Amino acid sequence: MARKKIALIGGGQIGGTLAHLAALKELGDVVLFDIVEGLPQGKSLDLAQSGPVEGFNAKLKGANDYADIAGADVVIVTAGVPRKPGMSRDDLLGINLKVMKSVGEGIAKYAPNAFVICITNPLDAMVWALQKFSGLPTHMVTGMAGVLDSARFRHFLAEEFNVSVQDVTAFVLGGHGDTMVPLTRYSAVAGIPVPDLIKMGWSTQEKIDAIVQRTRDGGAEIVGLLKTGSAFYAPATSAIEMAESYLKDKKRLLPCASFLAGEYGLKDMYVGVPVIIGEGGIEKVVEIDLQGEEKSGFDHSVNAVKGLMDACKAIDPTLA
Ligand code: APR
Repeated sequence: MARKKIALIGGGQIGGTLAHLAALKELGDVVLFDIVEGLPQGKSLDLAQSGPVEGFNAKLKGANDYADIAGADVVIVTAGVPRKPGMSRDDLLGINLKVMKSVGEGIAKYAPNAFVICITNPLDAMVWALQKFSGLPTHMVTGMAGVLDSARFRHFLAEEFNVSVQDVTAFVLGGHGDTMVPLTRYSAVAGIPVPDLIKMGWSTQEKIDAIVQRTRDGGAEIVGLLKTGSAFYAPATSAIEMAESYLKDKKRLLPCASFLAGEYGLKDMYVGVPVIIGEGGIEKVVEIDLQGEEKSGFDHSVNAVKGLMDACKAIDPTLA
């Protein structure tokens, strides 16, 4: 069987880490694409030279031409610019929307059968625009946010309970940003829900509330520490988990930014919800019961995403 092909659009911090992980896990041969000449070629060569030491079998190629992504099975998109001081939200939207347009056209032309995972921020609006610009089926275009947000939540919970991260499951829904909704009721240690653990005296509601807030601010906390960039190890790992579920038909149930066609009472938009990823792409959107503050938090988050979509439509009327 021929090796799978993984195309990474954007060869920056996350793109390079994605290439490293894809090669280490032997998910397939990797093409790292960027508009900057030399950057993807240099990173690919460096990574390829780690192959003999690690013993992985994967070819790595840097590219500045979309023709090199031809026939990719998976495309992971990190292309874009981060928000810089003095840049308004609409400035950032305008720039990254243009990037999504060129990336979408490149994917449509050379990798129309790929499973596409978008990471570029603001995530929920960018993945929605990327699907429209590429014209790929909605079940083949998804966004990575919930896996990362849940991983942050799991990490903090494991520290609080002093248990292995392996035994902590957690759910974060809604848009990627400070309106995300970490669901404490659906988060557990080896099946014991967090509210029960509070009753058992393992923690207090105040401490869990602080963890929920820290999860919401997870990206900003890292930007504040790094000062010159944003998180890249955990975002890359999270997208690779989604890619692996598709390539190996694992049927993982993961929170992802997914197209909604009536689920959760929403239509024609992308927002973070639990989905099953298998060989068919997004095979199912799982509708869980949301109560009280969970529901109002989700609605608030959905409205924030709609606001971003409206701003995108104002910038590029073809999206309307
Ligand atoms: N086509 C392809 N690549 C592009 C384009 C384009 N039109 N425009 C910019 N790029 C490339 C840049 O040259 C850069 O190498 O995208 C890369 C982005 O890399 P970084 O700036 O290092 O950003 P990174 O940390 O990888 O994050 C990428 O993911 O989490 C989000 O907010 C983050 O939107 C950002 C994205």
